[in-house]
Amino acid sequence: MPVLTTCQHEKPAISLSQLKKRAERLLRLCGCAESELSILLLSDAEMAGLNEQYRGKKGPTNVLAFALHDGEAGRLVPELLGDVIISLDTSAREAEADGVTLHHRVTILLIHGLLHLLGHDHERSAKEARIMAGREKELLEKLLEEERRGTMIHLAVNVDHVATLRQARGISEPDPVLAAGICELAGAQGIVVHLREDRRHIQDRDVRLLRQTVKTKLNLEMGATEEIIGIALAVKPDMITLVPEKRQELTTEGGLNVAGQKKKLAAVIKRMDKAGIPVSLFIDPDSRQIKASKDIGATFVEIHTGRYCDAVTEKARDQEFALIATAAEEAYELGLRVNAGHGLNYLTTQRLAHLGTIEELSIGHAIMARAILVGLDQAVREMVALLPKA
Ligand code: PXP
Repeated sequence: MPVLTTCQHEKPAISLSQLKKRAERLLRLCGCAESELSILLLSDAEMAGLNEQYRGKKGPTNVLAFALHDGEAGRLVPELLGDVIISLDTSAREAEADGVTLHHRVTILLIHGLLHLLGHDHERSAKEARIMAGREKELLEKLLEEERRGTMIHLAVNVDHVATLRQARGISEPDPVLAAGICELAGAQGIVVHLREDRRHIQDRDVRLLRQTVKTKLNLEMGATEEIIGIALAVKPDMITLVPEKRQELTTEGGLNVAGQKKKLAAVIKRMDKAGIPVSLFIDPDSRQIKASKDIGATFVEIHTGRYCDAVTEKARDQEFALIATAAEEAYELGLRVNAGHGLNYLTTQRLAHLGTIEELSIGHAIMARAILVGLDQAVREMVALLPKA
C-alpha cells in the first residue's frame, strides 16, 4: 500500500481517491514508486496544534512533512517515506487567493511536502530554495501532462453512411442531421462529415444544417479543391480535415502526401487560419509526413489507421500498431494535436485509445453497421406493432 490517505477534516471538499492517484503518480515520477507515503488531511485547529508541538510556532500552517528515514522506523523499513500533513482550511483559503481549485492547491502542497521527505529543504539556503522551487514546478508540469495524456481521448462519429443510405433511395430519409443529434446525445464528442466533390453522400444542405445543430464539434472532411474550400470558409466548421480524394475510390484510401505538396497545403492552412478554422491533415503513420505537417503549420494530424485495422495476421497488426504508436508519439512531441481514424471497429479501437497521445478517434462505418444490427430488432417490433392483431 504505497499511499495511505486519511482525512480528519469534517467536510473535505476534495476527492481522496483522486488525491491518492496523484500521489501515486508523483511517487513514480520521483523514482520511488515502491515507497510508502502517508497523507493526512485535517483542519486548521488540528494543524495549529501540530505546528506548535513540533515547530514551536503559533497558528496553523498549510503543510508539514515528517520524514521517517531520519528515525528508527526509517532505518528498519527504508521504503517508508513518511507523512505529509495538509490543512484543508488553509489550502482552501490559498486556493481562493490564487484562483485555483482546492485539488490543485492541495497537489502543490503535496509536492512540496513530498520533496521535503526526499531530502529537499528550502530553508537551508537560497540555492536550495531555488532548486526545490524548480523541482516543484517540474513535477507539477509532468503530473498534469500525464493526466492530460491519460484522459483526453474523444469519439467523433462520422455520419456519412447515413447519407449514403438516404442517397441510395433519393428521398429525405434517413437524415444525417438527425443521426448526428442522436450520436451527440449518446456521448459522442464530435461529428464528422465528408463533403465529396461528387456529393455521393453528404450534401451541402447537410453541412449547413449541421453547422447550426451540432453542439459538440463539427469536423468537415474534404479534398483541397477550390469549390469545397469556399464552402468551408462560408460554413466555418469547428475544424477541417484535409484528405486525398479520388472519384473512383469507395472510401478515402491513403493518407495525404503532405511532403510532396507543401506549398499548396500551406496556402490552404493559411486561408483557414485567417478564418479561425484549425486544419487537420490525414496522413499515413510516416515520420516524413508528420514533419512536413508541422512545417506547414497544421494544428492536427489524423493518423490513418486503415492498415492496422485491415491486417489479417496478429503479427502484421502488431507491426502496424507499432507504426501508429511511434507516429503518434512523434507528432505529439512536435506539438501537433493527434487524431486517428479509418476502419476502426469494436475490436481494434480500445488498444489505440490507450496510447495516451491521441486526442480523438474518428469512426463511422463500424458504428453505423452495428447500429443497423442492434436497432433492427426494435425497428421490426415497431412495425409489427402497427399491424392488426388476430
Ligand atoms: N477518417 C477519415 C479521414 C476518413 O476518410 C474516414 C472515412 O470517411 C474515417 C476517418 C472513418 O472511417 P470509418 O468509416 O472506416 O470508421
